[in-house]
Amino acid sequence: MNVMSDTYYITTPIYYVNGAPHLGSTYTTTLADAMARYHRLYGEDARFLTGTDEYGDKIASLAAAAGEEPKQLADKVSASFRSMWERLGAQPDDFIRTTEDRHKLVVQHVLREIYDRGDIYFGEYGGRYCVGCERFYTEKELVDGRCPQHGTTPEYIAEQNYFFRMGRYQQWLIDTLTEQPDLVRPEQYRRELLAFLRDPLDDLCISRPKSRLTWGITLPFDENFVTYVWFDALLNYVSALGYPEGDLYARYWPGEQLVGKDIVKPHGIYWPCMLQAAGIPLFRHLNVHGYWTIGGVKGGKSDRAELQEAERLEALHLFRDPARLADLLGVDGMRYCLLREMSFGSDLDFTRDLFVTRYNADLAHDLGNAVNRTVSMIARYHEAAIPDPGSETPVDRDLRDAASAAPGKVWAHIQAMAPHLALGEALTLAQRVNRYLEEKKPWTAFKNGDHDSVATTLYYAAETLGIAASLLLPVMPTRMLELRQALGLGDQPPSASGGWGYLDPGTPTAREARLFPTIERDAPAPEAKRDAR
Ligand code: MSP
Repeated sequence: MNVMSDTYYITTPIYYVNGAPHLGSTYTTTLADAMARYHRLYGEDARFLTGTDEYGDKIASLAAAAGEEPKQLADKVSASFRSMWERLGAQPDDFIRTTEDRHKLVVQHVLREIYDRGDIYFGEYGGRYCVGCERFYTEKELVDGRCPQHGTTPEYIAEQNYFFRMGRYQQWLIDTLTEQPDLVRPEQYRRELLAFLRDPLDDLCISRPKSRLTWGITLPFDENFVTYVWFDALLNYVSALGYPEGDLYARYWPGEQLVGKDIVKPHGIYWPCMLQAAGIPLFRHLNVHGYWTIGGVKGGKSDRAELQEAERLEALHLFRDPARLADLLGVDGMRYCLLREMSFGSDLDFTRDLFVTRYNADLAHDLGNAVNRTVSMIARYHEAAIPDPGSETPVDRDLRDAASAAPGKVWAHIQAMAPHLALGEALTLAQRVNRYLEEKKPWTAFKNGDHDSVATTLYYAAETLGIAASLLLPVMPTRMLELRQALGLGDQPPSASGGWGYLDPGTPTAREARLFPTIERDAPAPEAKRDAR
């Protein structure tokens, strides 16, 4: 496989600085981080961007209520996102803030280009404006006069503003979504967009008068107005690459966009039209994930659920403070459960029990046992060194075939943005090793003096676990590095295309490897240990 020259660029939405990171934003960030690591493992040149969205009414009024300057508030909250991602093991290559000059200059450049092409005009508009969503709603979109996301009654606002002629791009967008069936995935979200496009597409209001809001980027063609938040925010994906001249832009765009289902419309409608108007190539895919809910309610933004039960309260605490969940499961355990448990694209109700059960079954039991048994038997029967394999039986061969096929299967799932399936596939290797050991019974073979069989069995088990370690490394970087070290693979660069037979007989191995201690079902979640990893 020669993919060294392929590049991969993955982005998360940039997070509003009106609240702290929670499990929802942690999921998006962790997934983007793991995707970048997977693409590197498979030989690609990958880049991962996240950041914060700092302008708009919402932030301005929050800062005013706290008696702060908006920039002060943004500095504080943006820093808390950055340090939370570090704490939770995500390593973005870049972190963009919309208040940075590098972003502002690109927004103004693109606005000017689109304006000069005649796709931006000045007009009057009246509509219902939801501050939570930072956008106008049509009457049809409201549910009983209320915002479907926030349940609030948006205020009617009429004012003169600048508009982007989005309607001009409607047919082009319908054609594009029809011709590129996986442009937006999973499929249900493409259908949602196409359904929305059956009605005429309104032009998009892209400004606010400074008399109402100053916390934004000034329009390059009218200093009395600032840009509307979405027009500003969406451009972060290219401003962070130094569009239009930057080397990073030339190298990495078009990228993969990862978003939650609440913001499909801005990303699936406004953004492609903006790109097309500005002459920028379309993203590769818009990948849409579902909500983490608590008691059926979107956990990050609402308290509406009946939260009497202790379980729900606990879930809410953990949802709001992912560092506590990391204290409970370990950073790697939490990353694994997040990506394994949620089927990409669907919603999932979060409870502590869901994650503890998954952790215990997959990591403590299946993977942990396979590793622990293999490593301790190599220590006991082979003086803690990789054995030289003897002859191969059909049972050995089956394991070798499964292990050799796994990297290809995992890669296919990763490319299809199905991380839950990729992890399921990698985990079956651990389950197979446990079954294989039961079948081959190296402890009996050892007693019977069948050293050829013992050597083959332990070598095959170790090889298979080494492959599993590589395939799980992007999700559990710390623990899987420990596993690789236990198998004597410390200095070898991990790769998913190493093939069978990469373990060197005679290499020293660990005496024991206890990677994932079992978690008591009812043990209280540890109190937040902020700085302890
Ligand atoms: N600032 C905008 C995005 C601009 S991108 C150009 C925004 N920010 S946000 O902070 O409100 O939400 C960002 C993302 O957080 C959502 O798309 C989603 O990915 C994630 N989530 C927030 N709550 C969530 C859940 N309860 N569950 C899963 N993810 C959710 O929108």
